[in-house]
Amino acid sequence: MNQTLIDKELPEEQIYKSLLEYLPATFDSNEPVTTALANFSAAIFNAFNKISWAGFYILGEGETLYLGPFQGKPACTKIKIGKGVCGKAASIMETVIVPDVHKFPGHIACDSGSNSEIVLPVTKNNLLIGVFDLDSYLLNAFTFVDKYYLEELLKKFSEIINLSNYKIL
Ligand code: SME
Repeated sequence: MNQTLIDKELPEEQIYKSLLEYLPATFDSNEPVTTALANFSAAIFNAFNKISWAGFYILGEGETLYLGPFQGKPACTKIKIGKGVCGKAASIMETVIVPDVHKFPGHIACDSGSNSEIVLPVTKNNLLIGVFDLDSYLLNAFTFVDKYYLEELLKKFSEIINLSNYKIL
C-alpha cells in the first residue's frame, strides 16, 4: 500500500482519484474482514488533513451499531439505529452529510471538537453491514465530492471483501 504517493495538499478530487486508482488493488478477499476495515479507515484518515476521525460502526445485536476499526480518538462504543448521524444513515441506508453537527438534532458528540461529519452506509447485497463515519474539526468539511468518491470506494470494498458473515459480537 503506497500511501506516501498521495500528497495531502493536492485538490481533494485528485486525492480521491488516486485513492480510487490504488486502494481497490489492496483489498484482499483472503484477509480477515477486521484487517480490511482497519486498513480502509487508515487509508482514508491519512489521505486528508481535514479528517479528525474515520472509522466503522458495525451492526450487531439489538438494532445497535458497535464501534469497529477506526483511526482517531477513542469514540462512543454503541449507537442505536435511528440515533445520531450514524444511526440515521443506517436507518435510511443513505449517506448523510452534516455541515454543522451543532445544528443536527440528536448528534452524538464523541469528540467535542468535531464540527462536521459524513456517514455512509456499508452494505453487502443490499443488506446493512454498518456505517463508515468521517468527522472533521472544520465546519462544512464534506460535500457531494466526498459522498461520490467514498461511495465508489465502499462499493468496490464491499464487492471484494466478504462482509456478509462479519460479526462484531
Ligand atoms: N457523531 C456520531 C457518533 C460517532 S462519532 O462521531 C465517532 C453520531 O452522531 O452518530
